Amino acid sequence: MIAIGCDHGGFKLKQAVMKHLEERGLEYKDYGTYSDESCDYPVYGKAVANAVASGECDRGIIICGTGIGISIAANKIRGIRAALCGDCFSAEATRLHNDANILAMGARVVGEGLALKIVDIFLDTPFSGDERHRRRISMLEG
Ligand code: RB5
Repeated sequence: MIAIGCDHGGFKLKQAVMKHLEERGLEYKDYGTYSDESCDYPVYGKAVANAVASGECDRGIIICGTGIGISIAANKIRGIRAALCGDCFSAEATRLHNDANILAMGARVVGEGLALKIVDIFLDTPFSGDERHRRRISMLEG
């Protein structure tokens, strides 16, 4: 199950991502926001992060205008590794090296076509499992 959330800046792109997930036959749970009315990104970043950290969802996708605020919010939750990606290389590398469990994107930064490609790469790339990456990830939680 994929947790998905956004603020008003990410609302339109989130709709496109959800449609894309449906077309791929992937299940998701939408944690809001549910309109393009102005709202506070920490609420939605933390809601998705809590869903992933608790094990209720396996992965998360969060979107705000830049992707910055909502990724900062998500990364405050223990066990969360939210990666802000605006390119395909980073989306692949953060799965291989960081075992990122949440993808963050900026709807005012990436176009829809690129965003959907980033989503696919993020969801389809496994963690490498390499010892050095496991060690570094374990060092993230203080
Ligand atoms: C909202 O205007 C904007 O600040 C928000 O979507 C995000 O970019 C914050 O980091």
